[in-house]
Amino acid sequence: MSLTFAEDRADAIPLHVVEHHALTDWRAQQPERVQAWVAAQGFTAKLGQTLLVPAEDGTLEAAIMGYGTASHRQKGRFPLAIAQADLPEGVYRLATPWPDDRLAENALGWLLARYRFARYRKQSEPGAQLIAPAGIDAAQIETIAAGETLTRDLINTPAADMGPDALEDAVRDLASRHGAGCDVIVGDRLLDENYPMIHAVGRAAAVAPRLIEMTWGETGPSLTLVGKGVCFDTGGLNLKPGASMGLMKKDMGGAATVLGLASMIMGLALPVKLRVLIPAVENAVAGAAFRPGDILSSRKGLTVEINNTDAEGRLVLADALALADEAPPDLLISMATLTGAARVAVGPDLVPFYATDPDLATALREGARAAADPVWEMPFHEPYEAMIEPGIADLDNAPKGGFAGSITAALFLRRFVTAAPKYIHFDIYGWQPSAAPARSQGGVGQGARAILEALPRLLKL
Ligand code: BES
Ligand code: ZN
Ligand code: ZN
Repeated sequence: MSLTFAEDRADAIPLHVVEHHALTDWRAQQPERVQAWVAAQGFTAKLGQTLLVPAEDGTLEAAIMGYGTASHRQKGRFPLAIAQADLPEGVYRLATPWPDDRLAENALGWLLARYRFARYRKQSEPGAQLIAPAGIDAAQIETIAAGETLTRDLINTPAADMGPDALEDAVRDLASRHGAGCDVIVGDRLLDENYPMIHAVGRAAAVAPRLIEMTWGETGPSLTLVGKGVCFDTGGLNLKPGASMGLMKKDMGGAATVLGLASMIMGLALPVKLRVLIPAVENAVAGAAFRPGDILSSRKGLTVEINNTDAEGRLVLADALALADEAPPDLLISMATLTGAARVAVGPDLVPFYATDPDLATALREGARAAADPVWEMPFHEPYEAMIEPGIADLDNAPKGGFAGSITAALFLRRFVTAAPKYIHFDIYGWQPSAAPARSQGGVGQGARAILEALPRLLKL
């Protein structure tokens, strides 16, 4: 589905967005009939409160949404998406100047509120439409919404229909829409071409593991995005308990998110040389599965002792990062649903990231605020390096005890990046546990819009 603004039309329904403190003044400017109606309905302009105003003939004359107070707005994102969900079908036009500097966020929120995942069952109609408000770049917001739609669709599709092969098809499809190149190394060719850890993690599955590469853009600084594409994570021989395995179709959320971001970058024709690398595997249980205690060699030459086959994401990412680092881009970013520890630390709404340079973190924090895509910096805490060194191999994939699990995973990844001057890693969740404004329950992109917003500063564009 495509999330776009409505065509301009004269009979669109005016939608007023009124802050709590501005209600009295706003009301005073309305015809008496409307003033009486607003009072009779007990409308207080509380955040997200909507009110329909009927004309004398009973048709809809206007709609009003309360914009609450600044302190209430702090507690959430995309408040206009609440109105999108509440208002009846129809085409609306913002009728009052937006009360603060969050118009672009709210216009995007309206589009995203119309997202439905309807591949397997007809879903409720996406409902009310909005004419692109003046003062924002509507085409840019639509391009961002399209990238987010791709991310959500990929995550929401169950592993039976989104295995490594289907993920490859999705990348080929995206690449062909933007004239990008796409190369894939499948199955035993991973061994010939020296991606031993991608092969080891994925070799037990019915669908062959692969490394998917997409390249786009000829000029400008170089950006490489690496996304974890574990299409299903059973945990491997260290099998996950049922409750933890249930959601693991989303373990390709990193891949889905970097593809969504790539779609935005290409759709906006940003002046960058883009490379996307996705190790796509299923972490399955079978006779060929890799085992606890195995020592894997890696593309970079470092050996890795497997202490838990459920810590598979860092293994497949390591080989992809090593490849990325061989042609060091100006900026290297990885995104992965890497650890449960990240979720314990910051919950589902906030994305921890690690950056090799404080200026990158500052740019991301600012980008996150502008894009309403919250992130939080975590440290590459060097004293914990010892925790990932097991003794009989160079690295341990699952340090005992689990202390600082997200940090030790990030330190593990960083060992495979030695040439790229700037590296950022996001430990995402990729899932909206229950519906919130502009985010239906299910797959969700995290961090992509913050990165997009920060790119000019990150890449000195
Ligand atoms: N895909 C999981 C991490 C995950 C779990 C992300 C739940 C989001 C929600 C990853 O492969 C994993 O299982 N990691 C282990 C690592 C541990 C064994 C060192 C974890 O976090 O428990
Ligand atoms: Zn796992
Ligand atoms: Zn995983």
